[in-house]
Amino acid sequence: MRIDSGVDGFDELVGGGIPEGRLYLLSGPPGSGKTTFSAQFITRGAMRGEKCLYISMHETRSGIASDMEGFDFGFKRALGTEGITFLDAFSSDGKRFFGLPGERRERSSLSNRIVSFVQSRDIDRLVIDSTMLLRYFLSDDEDTLIQFLSSLKRTNATTLLISEMTDPSAYTDEHYLAHGVIFLHNYLDDGGMTRGIQVVKMRGTDVDTDINRVEFTDEGLHVHPGTPPGE
Ligand SMILES: Nc1ncnc2c1ncn2[C@@H]1O[C@H](COP(=O)(O)OP(=O)(O)O)[C@@H](O)[C@H]1O
Ligand SMILES: [Mg+2]
Repeated sequence: MRIDSGVDGFDELVGGGIPEGRLYLLSGPPGSGKTTFSAQFITRGAMRGEKCLYISMHETRSGIASDMEGFDFGFKRALGTEGITFLDAFSSDGKRFFGLPGERRERSSLSNRIVSFVQSRDIDRLVIDSTMLLRYFLSDDEDTLIQFLSSLKRTNATTLLISEMTDPSAYTDEHYLAHGVIFLHNYLDDGGMTRGIQVVKMRGTDVDTDINRVEFTDEGLHVHPGTPPGE
């Protein structure tokens, strides 16, 4: 089964939708649209009556809600529904999950708590923002991250893992582990900011790996399949 991403035009790049229940990496430099893409993905899930979990280690619930206020795709409304659980490292629930700064936690216990939560609530869509901070919270041990991602792959959730990436050739473990990798590009040229989106891999799907134009509209990100960036 494939699910709709909630991002206009994106599903056309991946054979009509994202294969469900798998783990995807959403990579790109700051300001390229990763959080907006994820908010659209979660909002669409909530609109479909799916159970969604958004884990943010960067921003508070109200911070993201206010960042998304400029768009009409309905994130704030979706946040108010029962379908979405928002967990941030700053809330009291979040502190229980993530632990306090400097506190020594048992290795891998955070990843176990997240995986148990996803399984016990039967979460359909999961966003984790981001791998950089996940590394910080999990411990320095790469094995813990690899085990965590492998456990997430075994849940029924369709997971978007956000990764800050400034060098598109600097692949990390999660790029290899993920079922799919999506890159958001942005670069300055004479006309201002040019934006693009590229599906680098998506297992089980015949994908077009070209960079396609993507723009911010009132409705959020909008992909123009088959159109190169800057056209
Ligand atoms: N309506 C809009 N039109 C153009 N750009 C926008 C609009 N709304 C937000 N942005 C830009 O989107 C970027 C934020 O996107 P975001 O999804 O937070 O990126 P990331 O999570 O990759 O850092 C900001 O650089 C902001 O300037
Ligand atoms: Mg972001």
